Amino acid sequence: MKASVVAGSAVSVAMTLSVCLDARAAPRVEVLHWWTSQGEAAALATLRGAAQAEGLEWKEASIVGGGGEQAMRTLKARVDAGISPTAVQVMGLEVHEWAKRGVLTDLNELAAKEGWDKVVPPALQKFSKFNNKWVAVPVNVHSYNWVWASNAVLAKAGVAGEPKTWDQFVAAAEAAKRAGFVGLAHGGQPWQTAMVFDGVVLATGGADFYRKAFIERHPHTLSSPTMKKVFARMTQLRGLVDKDSEGRDWNFATAMVIGERAAFQIMGDFAKGEFLAAGKRPGKDFLCFRLPGSQGAVSFGLDNFAMFAVQGADAIGAQQRLAKVMLDKKFQSDFNVIKGSVPARMDVSDAAFDACGKRGIKELAEASRKNALVGTVVFGHAVAGPIKNSITEIVDQHFNGRMSDDDAVKAIAAALRRTNP
Ligand code: GAL
Repeated sequence: MKASVVAGSAVSVAMTLSVCLDARAAPRVEVLHWWTSQGEAAALATLRGAAQAEGLEWKEASIVGGGGEQAMRTLKARVDAGISPTAVQVMGLEVHEWAKRGVLTDLNELAAKEGWDKVVPPALQKFSKFNNKWVAVPVNVHSYNWVWASNAVLAKAGVAGEPKTWDQFVAAAEAAKRAGFVGLAHGGQPWQTAMVFDGVVLATGGADFYRKAFIERHPHTLSSPTMKKVFARMTQLRGLVDKDSEGRDWNFATAMVIGERAAFQIMGDFAKGEFLAAGKRPGKDFLCFRLPGSQGAVSFGLDNFAMFAVQGADAIGAQQRLAKVMLDKKFQSDFNVIKGSVPARMDVSDAAFDACGKRGIKELAEASRKNALVGTVVFGHAVAGPIKNSITEIVDQHFNGRMSDDDAVKAIAAALRRTNP
């Protein structure tokens, strides 16, 4: 009896100890994101796997809603309640807004140890740093002035390959419509229409015009005949979409091209993740090409993970290990190959990437060298939130026929004239 009591108590002590040790052994991270489509989820699985391989216990808050608007509302509620996640997907200049609130972690020590300043391009660093401190980790770089085309639909519509000019692109979409297909698959949500607008500005005026309009906000640029032409082209595109496009999620529009019901989609290269998840191959099943007129220029957006201040040595240690994983070279290749984006580090080989991925890496580097790389307005990489939101609203109103081309030009000029964003 006595021995068993002693043995029993020894076992319970050991179990308690092991539970404590186990609790200490797998420090936990919580990641808030909006990657819930097929392609996004497949890419996220590589991040989860890499974190778990690092010995981290993975918890996630996955908030449905392409583009992240709902995710940002959830984040605000969590921070206001004092229950910030470890790491959060945050777009563009929004990272600085959180840094200003003093709720982000200073990652400079880790960044110095890992040499991030040497491998992450300066154009990207500015979105991950605030007051010269690394406060976010750039995981991947998407670009937005892409067109995704169904080879089968183009063939049935009698369209021979990639349209090179705007007029050829519109003519090809109209040919697809005549052949009984949707010319342009589109999700009529404001952020998606603003993304199309982003590309059309680049295709119509080029990178210098884009910067003069949205970064420098030159009044004459904003009210120029070129800006009027941008909205005339948006009106052309409206004639190519189907009647059910309003409110459609972006990945459902991509599925229309994958399913050979539509010829084209103008969408960021996260659309490629959907093609890959559906077993489609570039060249064989679909084409990826820059929106005609925007060739040579690239509008980009980072998926940055802002690191929120956490308490306690375990949580801080876990956060540092997660941050290190996110910019690890092998992870950068594994993740971006699936996500459709390109690595946030310049020293990652393109060997594992398909033709579209290789093209994305090459064109981003070339655009950067030629000063033709611009941060996208739609995801807050150009102007501050309130002005970005005004542009998105104006473009959405116009695309839905509630504003004329002339009124849209005037409204954009007025929105960008506001000095205090
Ligand atoms: C973007 C994000 C991409 C993709 C897209 C659609 O903001 O950068 O990774 O998720 O939203 O949800």
